[in-house]
Amino acid sequence: MPYELKSARFLAADILRQAVRPGDVVVDATMGNGHDTLMLCQLVGEEGHVYAFDVQEKAVENTRRRLMDAGVAERAHLFCLGHEHMAEQVLGPVRAAVFNLGWLPGGDHAVTTRWETTQIAIEAALSLLEKGGVLVICAYPGHAEGDRERQALANFLSALRPQAFNVFHHRFLNAGPGAPECFVAQKQ
Ligand SMILES: C[S@@+](CC[C@H](N)C(=O)[O-])C[C@H]1O[C@@H](n2cnc3c(N)ncnc32)[C@H](O)[C@@H]1O
Repeated sequence: MPYELKSARFLAADILRQAVRPGDVVVDATMGNGHDTLMLCQLVGEEGHVYAFDVQEKAVENTRRRLMDAGVAERAHLFCLGHEHMAEQVLGPVRAAVFNLGWLPGGDHAVTTRWETTQIAIEAALSLLEKGGVLVICAYPGHAEGDRERQALANFLSALRPQAFNVFHHRFLNAGPGAPECFVAQKQ
């Protein structure tokens, strides 16, 4: 298979596969249909743990079913709760925190992540990260709220002290303004 440049989602998954090891504790801040939660459960193995958040009961149900089908449900704690409450629920340190912003695929587009609560959760995730741990975020600027969130996120991450975090931003320059983008911050 010849080498091919891949999307933000692919890159995010690839970074998580390299960063997360068996026994790690990690956070999925937006569980949705549970694809990321399942991948994280597989990466942390039997000794690790995944904390996952979503505001929609449907997302929690879909994720629970996916984890049960894969036989890994006991590796995760699923919260039907906004990720802005992460600091109250998760004991650090964590190796990785994942945000896949926007709305539940196939769900109600009105229930989307919003910068005001995303920022609270990202601040919590940054402080929970262990040294070398990664915050991985996919943002979708193809709709108005997503564009506002992406811009605020870029501004926020750009202002992090380089002594504290290395920050990386990936996007296709010629794919149009709505193409998904990937942001990564690694704690120094
Ligand atoms: C793009 S989906 C996530 C997809 C998921 N990562 C997957 O692998 O299927 C974004 C999710 O964020 C959820 N969400 C919106 N606001 C939230 C909040 N404040 N806290 C946690 N989740 C939230 C939505 O309900 C939606 O399920």
